[in-house]
Amino acid sequence: MTSTYKSTFTEERNFTSSPYKSLHDNYVSNRPGLSRIKSFLLIMGCLTILGGLLAIALIEKLRNQEKIDEALNPNHTDTHEPVLNAEESRILLVESIPLWMDYGTNATFGEPLYKAWKDLISTATTQIDVASFYWSLTGEDINVNSSTDRPGRDILEQFKALPKRNVSVRVVASFPSIAPNSTDLRILKEHGVHVRRINFRRLTRGILHTKFWIVDRRHIYIGSANMDWRALTQVKELGVVLYNCSSLATDLQKIFQSYWVMGRPNATVPEPWPAFYDTSINAEQPLHLNLDTVPSRVYIAASPPAFCPDSRTRDLDAVLSVISQAQQFVHVAVMEYYPASKFFYHHRYWPDIETALKRSAFERGVAVRLLVSCGRDSDPAVLPFLKSLAALDYPSENISIEVRLHIVPVANQTDIPYSRVNHNKYMVTDKTAYIGTSNWSADYFNTTAGVGFVVSQDAVNSSSPGETLVGRLRAVFERDWSSQFAVPLEKLGHNPDCAFS
Ligand SMILES: *[C@@H]1O[C@H](CO)[C@@H](O)[C@H](O)[C@H]1NC(C)=O
Ligand SMILES: *[C@@H]1O[C@H](CO)[C@@H](O)[C@H](O)[C@H]1NC(C)=O
Ligand SMILES: *[C@@H]1O[C@H](CO)[C@@H](O)[C@H](O)[C@H]1NC(C)=O
Ligand SMILES: *[C@@H]1O[C@H](CO)[C@@H](O)[C@H](O)[C@H]1NC(C)=O
Ligand SMILES: *[C@@H]1O[C@H](CO)[C@@H](O)[C@H](O)[C@H]1NC(C)=O
Ligand SMILES: *[C@@H]1O[C@H](CO)[C@@H](O)[C@H](O)[C@H]1NC(C)=O
Ligand SMILES: *[C@@H]1O[C@H](CO)[C@@H](O)[C@H](O)[C@H]1NC(C)=O
Ligand SMILES: *[C@@H]1O[C@H](CO)[C@@H](O)[C@H](O)[C@H]1NC(C)=O
Ligand SMILES: *[C@@H]1O[C@H](CO)[C@@H](O)[C@H](O)[C@H]1NC(C)=O
Ligand SMILES: *[C@@H]1O[C@H](CO)[C@@H](O)[C@H](O)[C@H]1NC(C)=O
Ligand SMILES: *[C@@H]1O[C@H](CO)[C@@H](O)[C@H](O)[C@H]1NC(C)=O
Ligand SMILES: *[C@@H]1O[C@H](CO)[C@@H](O)[C@H](O)[C@H]1NC(C)=O
Repeated sequence: MTSTYKSTFTEERNFTSSPYKSLHDNYVSNRPGLSRIKSFLLIMGCLTILGGLLAIALIEKLRNQEKIDEALNPNHTDTHEPVLNAEESRILLVESIPLWMDYGTNATFGEPLYKAWKDLISTATTQIDVASFYWSLTGEDINVNSSTDRPGRDILEQFKALPKRNVSVRVVASFPSIAPNSTDLRILKEHGVHVRRINFRRLTRGILHTKFWIVDRRHIYIGSANMDWRALTQVKELGVVLYNCSSLATDLQKIFQSYWVMGRPNATVPEPWPAFYDTSINAEQPLHLNLDTVPSRVYIAASPPAFCPDSRTRDLDAVLSVISQAQQFVHVAVMEYYPASKFFYHHRYWPDIETALKRSAFERGVAVRLLVSCGRDSDPAVLPFLKSLAALDYPSENISIEVRLHIVPVANQTDIPYSRVNHNKYMVTDKTAYIGTSNWSADYFNTTAGVGFVVSQDAVNSSSPGETLVGRLRAVFERDWSSQFAVPLEKLGHNPDCAFS
């Protein structure tokens, strides 16, 4: 995976003249202060009317071009959903643990990802929408002959069979694909699946890196796993499945729809997005619901900003607000942490998350733990930044910042490229769980499409923390942090499975 991501981005770097730049700049500056709103009320009023007319014109245009969508989703223009969810929703923490990783006898794990995906597929009766960076569900795709691709093959077979069960399936993936030899999408098309590929490089100079499913407009999956056989047996992944939550599924559908319309040939990013894409669920106004009977508040954040109406919380803002609200601890597990931009700007420092972490530790005495992955393909450029964070750890001054590297043993699986790595991207605090799809580096929040699922629960201190998602995620972090696979920076000796050593 890594080298191909890199080559994708290398091409991006050469893509210098962007017609979208001015659009982005407008977008960012289009948020005047209150005093300005007053002084320009009249102008704004006129602009609002004009904007409204333009939006209506745009919706009409989209509608004409979206006959296929309407056939698939006759009700896709519903815009108002309640911020209270009456359903009894269930949430599962799902994990994929690479084969032959020995955690000892007493370790507990989330629901296996393979089972969670199979259950979602068998639950479906009308519709599944899938957003994934790419598809590669068989070993042949990457010239590997390994029986560990069996679960992946099975998922592909099950997707092929869905249209025959009258379940309509839509798939969006990134273009150009980093799995050029995969035949999955062609095979799915032949079986009646609707497929679109989005050229994010042209649209925002990024990629579509998001990963989620929406099933029957009621159930959702969000997590780190791509539609890749290695995600089921060779790469460590983490995500959530939320059952029976139409409000949030409808909300996520808007993000899916924004990708779907941008998958048309020559599509351009609308500015602003039509009112259909507005959301009433965000950081300021989360959805209140019971998850397994536990009172909870949830919302979905997204990136890049160019794909977010004002009402959608940006993924970076979600990360920063979760960190700043923590009172006791912030535990972060990400594939990569890199406080800089690598691709949009080559080599520009980007301290947003770094500052938030240091401020929490220094000003509020919050205990920060960072578990960052190191695999055979990791970029050693991140190591100095990790060391600088760890250097701030100073218990006698009540500053607690600890950094460990998560190393998945390659074992005898040396012939499988871009595997044997912890691909998780989540954070847990004393009250909130954040489960995302992005690395923590500038480009992922600025130009690349991703989503973050945020759950806050007050009952974390209740007698059985295992009953809350936040409690379960905390336990997963503790399990990994105290396992033999988490190596403190200063104890990193020679380890061929980690590119930093
Ligand atoms: C981000 O994560 C991907 C895998 O998800 C990895 O290949 C890539 O090198 C990482 N880092 C950056 C800065 O893109
Ligand atoms: C669309 O809405 C109508 C009326 O509210 C309802 O009967 C129908 O089942 C809905 N269709 C879908 C696919 O949700
Ligand atoms: C595993 O759990 C059992 C029963 O709770 C306990 O007796 C045993 O010491 C635990 N083993 C380890 C390695 O923690
Ligand atoms: C795709 O297949 C070609 C021809 O077999 C091979 O040279 C190339 O390395 C393959 N690409 C990937 C990404 O596996
Ligand atoms: C894959 O490996 C198995 C056993 O290791 C072997 O029987 C089979 O012929 C191989 N398939 C290919 C296409 O090389
Ligand atoms: C699918 O829909 C068609 C046409 O409505 C119907 O004839 C067929 O029995 C349905 N198949 C299943 C498996 O529900
Ligand atoms: C979802 O709700 C329905 C009833 O509306 C129930 O039958 C089903 O078991 C629920 N699903 C899950 C996974 O809890
Ligand atoms: C997309 O743009 C290209 C080049 O401007 C043009 O040749 C092509 O006809 C356009 N395609 C559609 C579907 O509009
Ligand atoms: C650190 O925290 C402890 C407990 O809150 C407090 O007693 C101590 O004075 C603090 N030390 C410093 C250097 O602030
Ligand atoms: C790798 O090791 C595991 C566990 O020891 C074994 O089951 C498996 O067959 C081995 N695979 C290969 C390709 O040697
Ligand atoms: C994010 O992208 C915008 C253009 O879309 C650019 O102006 C800005 O400098 C970028 N920020 C970072 C940190 O890369
Ligand atoms: C949980 O308990 C700790 C100590 O017992 C307390 O400081 C903290 O405020 C509690 N958190 C919540 C969310 O109630």
